[in-house]
Amino acid sequence: MATHTDHHHSFPLLLLTFLTLLPLSSADDSAVMLKLLSSLSPAPFGWSSSIPFCNWTNVSCKLTSSLVTAINLGSAGVSGVLPLELNQLSQLQYLALQKNSLTGTLPSFENMTSLEQIYLDNNDFTSVPNNFLLRLTNLQTFSISENVNLGPWEIPSYLTESTNLLTFYASNASVTGIIPNIFGSFPNLQNLRLSHNNLTGSLPGSFSGSEIQILWLNNQEVGLSGRIDVLANMTQLAQVWLHANMLSGAIPDLSSCKNLFDLQLRDNRFTGVLPPSLMNLPQLLNITLQNNKLQGPYPQFPSTVVNVTIGTTNSFCLDRPGPCDPQVSILLDVAGALGYPMSFAESWQGNNACHDWRFINCNSQGRNVTVVNMSRQGFSGSISPTFANLTSLRNLVLNDNNLTGVIPPVLTTLPELQTFDVSNNNLSWQIPVFPPSVRVTYSGKLLLGQNDNESSGGAPGTSTAGIISGVIVAVVVSIGVVLLFLYKCYVRRKHKRLGRVEGGNVTISIRGELHDETKIAVKRMESGAMGMKGMKEFQAEIAVLTKVRHRHLVTLLGYCINGNERLLVYEYMPQGTLGQHLFEWQKLCYQPLSWKQRLIITLDVARGVEYLHSLAQQSFIHRDLKPSNILLSDEMRAKVSDFGLVKNAPDGKHSVETRLAGTFGYLAPEYAATGRVTTKADVYAFGVVLMAIITGRKAVDETASEAHLVTWFQGVLINEDNLRESTDPALDPDDETYESICEVAKLAIQCTAQQPTQRPDMGQVVNSLGPLVEPWKPSEPEEDDAIGNDRHMSLSAILQAAEEPNKDADDVDLSIHDTNEYQAQQVFEEMPGTKMERKLNGKDEVCNVALHECKALEEGRKDTSMANLKCKDLCLSFLVKIMQANAWRHI
Ligand SMILES: *[C@@H]1O[C@H](CO)[C@@H](O)[C@H](O)[C@H]1NC(C)=O
Ligand SMILES: *[C@@H]1O[C@H](CO)[C@@H](O)[C@H](O)[C@H]1NC(C)=O
Ligand SMILES: *[C@@H]1O[C@H](CO)[C@@H](O)[C@H](O)[C@H]1NC(C)=O
Ligand SMILES: *[C@@H]1O[C@H](CO)[C@@H](O)[C@H](O)[C@H]1NC(C)=O
Ligand SMILES: *[C@@H]1O[C@H](CO)[C@@H](O)[C@H](O)[C@H]1NC(C)=O
Ligand SMILES: *[C@@H]1O[C@H](CO)[C@@H](O)[C@H](O)[C@H]1NC(C)=O
Ligand SMILES: *[C@@H]1O[C@H](CO)[C@@H](O)[C@H](O)[C@H]1NC(C)=O
Ligand SMILES: *[C@@H]1O[C@H](CO)[C@@H](O)[C@H](O)[C@H]1NC(C)=O
Ligand SMILES: *[C@@H]1O[C@H](CO)[C@@H](O)[C@H](O)[C@H]1NC(C)=O
Repeated sequence: MATHTDHHHSFPLLLLTFLTLLPLSSADDSAVMLKLLSSLSPAPFGWSSSIPFCNWTNVSCKLTSSLVTAINLGSAGVSGVLPLELNQLSQLQYLALQKNSLTGTLPSFENMTSLEQIYLDNNDFTSVPNNFLLRLTNLQTFSISENVNLGPWEIPSYLTESTNLLTFYASNASVTGIIPNIFGSFPNLQNLRLSHNNLTGSLPGSFSGSEIQILWLNNQEVGLSGRIDVLANMTQLAQVWLHANMLSGAIPDLSSCKNLFDLQLRDNRFTGVLPPSLMNLPQLLNITLQNNKLQGPYPQFPSTVVNVTIGTTNSFCLDRPGPCDPQVSILLDVAGALGYPMSFAESWQGNNACHDWRFINCNSQGRNVTVVNMSRQGFSGSISPTFANLTSLRNLVLNDNNLTGVIPPVLTTLPELQTFDVSNNNLSWQIPVFPPSVRVTYSGKLLLGQNDNESSGGAPGTSTAGIISGVIVAVVVSIGVVLLFLYKCYVRRKHKRLGRVEGGNVTISIRGELHDETKIAVKRMESGAMGMKGMKEFQAEIAVLTKVRHRHLVTLLGYCINGNERLLVYEYMPQGTLGQHLFEWQKLCYQPLSWKQRLIITLDVARGVEYLHSLAQQSFIHRDLKPSNILLSDEMRAKVSDFGLVKNAPDGKHSVETRLAGTFGYLAPEYAATGRVTTKADVYAFGVVLMAIITGRKAVDETASEAHLVTWFQGVLINEDNLRESTDPALDPDDETYESICEVAKLAIQCTAQQPTQRPDMGQVVNSLGPLVEPWKPSEPEEDDAIGNDRHMSLSAILQAAEEPNKDADDVDLSIHDTNEYQAQQVFEEMPGTKMERKLNGKDEVCNVALHECKALEEGRKDTSMANLKCKDLCLSFLVKIMQANAWRHI
């Protein structure tokens, strides 16, 4: 002992030191017990320094030695501060100090591996030391409840070492923090009481499967939160006190909790319909439900439940037992699929869904739900198939939430449905085919993985099987190919009002990423009836367009055709559409585009379209030029997209007759009237885009006095002074800018001339715009990020060198318009065909997928893959497999 070498100058000090140090080497516990005795006042009954401590009342020692095994001072009427040395009672198994007036800091019990039971409740302890329960490997019972002056402490995670724990009581004991997720470590835990503390967070998942019978978590200061689904897995529960917290969500099905007799749920934030099993719990005696927002039918408990409080502040459809109105039941089912959000529970009161219910509109008779609009509510969960029971539903708007799962196919049977918007969610990419009358807007995350195992076979020959995921970026805007019936529809409607050509075509963009980190957008188009001829044409056009490279055209990297369905793989444009930046910038929190940016964009677009028009002897006509088809890069440079509609005209001068395609407001009059299209139809649409750029107005604005932008704009320009007032308020032009705006306005008028022959061609447009952009030109030299710098090869040379997968496209003779403008062409090299299998209607199908690797010519550029996908019968899920085979990655 180190102190023995010290010099001590007085006897009393030496004695004191001796007494203090003695227990460290003592073979018996007498010193600790004397210390304990001297700490307590009054001295406990039957305790005295004149009696051997093993003979003290309620103290037990080992038979063979003077080592204490039990101390029972419960309700002994003592006060004082416990000595720190208590932890030297190496054989102590039982320590009962409850119901006294003990105070101060608790001694630590660290390393007291013999301790099995500790009772400290109903005292006045003020703090617990760190690690005070560490390594109590035999602890069964710990009780520290009712120590109201304890300083805050947390349930220690190291308690997992106490694997024999049976009872843990710490009610009204200043416990803070979360309930740690450690309950998998206590196979015997039956009693957990933590009432009247300041615990926060949710019920830990490790409660699941535990043996807990008594669970008291009521009356937390701030309140426990989250759902209580885990109770369903706690089959031994008998008494559950959760009242006075912030718990939410629905009451789970507790039918596995056969011994449950007492369930206190009042004063929380519970929502949803009570599970019918709750009313049939065999042992239930008392239950409280008041002060929640419970929904659905008012509960009716059997008479064996003697103590029921339901209260009047829940949101049951009626104030007495009985079924809810059918429409109410349907909507509750809908809410259930979303986890019964509080916003529904608060607003959906009563038994009439047409009575001021949030998110709901009804028909004029006020009886049937026609609109459900839950846009931008942050809801998660899934789309309930029960929506299909709302047979009068016209608009179902669920965009910008966090919905997962599939779109229930049964929704396609809704007879009145017109609008179905599920954009910007995390839905699976299995979109049922709606009737053409429904405008479907889809976007979201492409989630894969779970059910992939089913399609056995996978992709032999490919090594990587990454998880694919993509995020849908663009919303359904444009119409892929507009069908003949739409033309009829248009003719029927056009005298009524201007509107957009709408169809059942679905265009979807998915953002994905190739293994070399090239970002791509995949668009899916569906169109009902497209004849063989139409499909051939489409293929031919696409085959050429996959080879078109221009810095102002969004590169079409590949495509895939399956029946009436097409998938187009584009390069990805991060800044979205010009339409968003012009019309929705406030909503989307963009900066408004400056005039300089607008000018540069118009020139970009003009150049892109000019290139299309003069790409080949067979001129290409875009046919659907509009702000939502103009995509922007991070540098706010524009690329024209969506040439799914391009028309391969036999020669640039003469018109071709086509199915009417495009968007009202942008349709050249001669095209709308005759269906015959020339490149001048694009010039007209470009003029409308210019007007939109100047005014910030959409081509058709039903709320304006003159809905049609062109008509209105032409009216404005009768007096040039009107122009200033008509410019986009976001521009606020100075004089120099205003001059530039006037020039562009004149060009817009020319482009939208009634007679196609009076309109300039795109080359002239480019020439007019060029000088206007000059003073605003960006200081850095124009560099093309997306395409690379590949001006040394002519387009036709590259195309001839390229492997030509499509015969029709072989015939196209491509000529060059301006070498400087034309960019790199990629060579397609066929990769080994990939065999893929799937089971369809129990039948094995084998599909040969020819994958073309797309190789960039220029030096130093990484390869891209997945350039061209063709498969005779390729279903959507199949494409997904291919993507996977190509190791598309989650981004
Ligand atoms: C202490 O208890 C033991 C056994 O009960 C007894 O034999 C012994 O006499 C007691 N000693 C005193 C001092 O009371
Ligand atoms: C408990 O035991 C461990 C080792 O078993 C030791 O490191 C630690 O210091 C001990 N704690 C106390 C307070 O004795
Ligand atoms: C309860 O805990 C929260 C943080 O978890 C704290 O902000 C609050 O002050 C505590 N309340 C009391 C009464 O201790
Ligand atoms: C209940 O237990 C099952 C099976 O162990 C598990 O899959 C499920 O996630 C558990 N539920 C909860 C809410 O813990
Ligand atoms: C629930 O019922 C049991 C048995 O009747 C009773 O002991 C208990 O105190 C009751 N609980 C409440 C909160 O009323
Ligand atoms: C009913 O509950 C109240 C308080 O919740 C309690 O005082 C009473 O004893 C209970 N009655 C029965 C029969 O359990
Ligand atoms: C919805 O309709 C189906 C089939 O008609 C029916 O089985 C189901 O109970 C209905 N659901 C609701 C909530 O009314
Ligand atoms: C309202 O719904 C009921 C039942 O679904 C249906 O029979 C009735 O025709 C609907 N009324 C209207 C005006 O849509
Ligand atoms: C959306 O849901 C996913 C999975 O359910 C979740 O991880 C994510 O945090 C949620 N996002 C938002 C913004 O709620």
